[in-house]
Amino acid sequence: MITSTDIAGSPVEPFDFVLFGGSGDLSMRKLLPALYFRHCANQLPADGRIICAARQELDTDGFRALMDAESKIHIDEKDFMEDHWLSFIERVHYLRIDVTVQSDYEKLKSMLAGREEHVRVFYLSVAPSLFNKITEGVNAAGLITPLSRVALEKPLGRDEASADVINDELAAVFKESQIFRIDHYLGKEAVQNLMALRFGNSLFEPLWRNERISDVQITIAESLGVDTRGRFYDQTGALRDMVQNHLLQLLVILAMEPPVSVDPDAVRDEKIKVLRALKPLVGRDAIENTVRGQYKAGAYDEGTVPGYLENEDIPNDSTTETFVALKAEIGSWRWEGVPFYLRTGKRLEKKQTEIIINFKKVPHSIFETADGLNEPNQLIIRLQPEEKIRMRVYVKAWGDAITLQPVHLNLDFNDVFQKRRMIAYERLIVDVLRGNPVLFMRRDEVSAAWAWVDPIQQAWEHFQVEPKAYRAGSMGPSAASNLIHRDGFAWYEE
Ligand code: NDP
Ligand code: BG6
Repeated sequence: MITSTDIAGSPVEPFDFVLFGGSGDLSMRKLLPALYFRHCANQLPADGRIICAARQELDTDGFRALMDAESKIHIDEKDFMEDHWLSFIERVHYLRIDVTVQSDYEKLKSMLAGREEHVRVFYLSVAPSLFNKITEGVNAAGLITPLSRVALEKPLGRDEASADVINDELAAVFKESQIFRIDHYLGKEAVQNLMALRFGNSLFEPLWRNERISDVQITIAESLGVDTRGRFYDQTGALRDMVQNHLLQLLVILAMEPPVSVDPDAVRDEKIKVLRALKPLVGRDAIENTVRGQYKAGAYDEGTVPGYLENEDIPNDSTTETFVALKAEIGSWRWEGVPFYLRTGKRLEKKQTEIIINFKKVPHSIFETADGLNEPNQLIIRLQPEEKIRMRVYVKAWGDAITLQPVHLNLDFNDVFQKRRMIAYERLIVDVLRGNPVLFMRRDEVSAAWAWVDPIQQAWEHFQVEPKAYRAGSMGPSAASNLIHRDGFAWYEE
């Protein structure tokens, strides 16, 4: 059970948080619960309003009832307090608006009138095709004040060119300091902890390089399928949905040089150097170093699930990938020769996000090992569902002979932090309200990520690479294992 002082932070300034797409999936599942938690933590001032905007014919009472039905269920029972929920929904107002109709913005204008001194956030939880309509709409209605900010959901565009168009349109009405491009992985405590682990300890830095590390693996596995997001997903695919943003952000945080401070630009300057140092995967290189997959029906303990093509929103000849594995390399003194294997997929065996750092073997081994294997040291950083760090080291096995046995040094964050860890959107929303951009993507970062991903997509299209089938409940197509085996490595599986 949380208490109102749990994970408290200093209160934010009075605000109007205009949530475009307030009735959508993301709002109901993540954004409104995140705001609820910040409300419980007493971080939202009394004069902080949440204005949910969508076309559905509802009034504020009707929308609050919708939240009761569709958002409340996404708050863990043990963290739910009825009295806090009731006071939270008092903050929420509904605005019926079609964002493509300019005259509709007059309704928003009258709701915001007289509150120009408040922080004003336009949060765009809508399809990217509506981003420009909304920024133009609020601009033409004269709603952008000096304290206004705009927050946008990923994916920002579908390639570098379309991201540039969106960014240009944004830049026409907002300053860069007012733009908050969201990759919710950056809001995860576990992801921030990667930075803490690397730069808060002197232990790792001398080891964090090609002389000591043989390969790095990053896996974001999901057990869910595309479910109700079929239409969006089929236009997008795993490369654009997960690799361009979440996976590359994890890679960049692992590989970046130590920034001089936590100043937003100091951190982002280092991150972009890694993105620019990624060796391009173009043409045949892209084909040889990537694997596309698509899930078929399969079974979990809870029962069987249909395949991707059986989803009613997916054309039955769709070749969109629901799985990607690839080998990336960074051309830099620190990382030359170290492969970074990335993989992500829907309907995999389990939900798990994990980073594996495999160190090199000892140069000359003088011991036998009890199991006959001589695996190198390994650092396992589990980011979700639970946060754990494990380090495989060797000790002397029990008995007469000096034989080695692997053991794990274990750090389970649940043992260290008894309190609930914040969900990613809590931190991100508070940072938008405060105007702190450190956990958001700068324009050049988004472009650099697309610039690396685009040639892969183009190669798939050019060579008409069909996705390889994999069974729901497995860890992806066998080609993903071959990709890593051919270099003499194997995916870490627990
Ligand atoms: P949904 O389709 O569930 O929601 C879209 C929302 O936009 C609805 O509230 C809809 O309400 C509203 N809307 C659509 N057209 C208009 C219009 N013309 N005028 C006003 N409101 C409109 O989408 P999601 O919530 O899934 O996604 C929202 C954004 O977040 C997308 O950019 C997506 O890529 C991104 N995202 C989503 C994630 C998720 O897990 N869902 C994860 C990460 C990013 P109505 O139809 O009543 O107008
Ligand atoms: C989103 C993707 O950005 O991240 C989804 O659009 C995916 O397809 C989700 O399911 C995964 O996020 P998390 O926080 O559940 O790992």
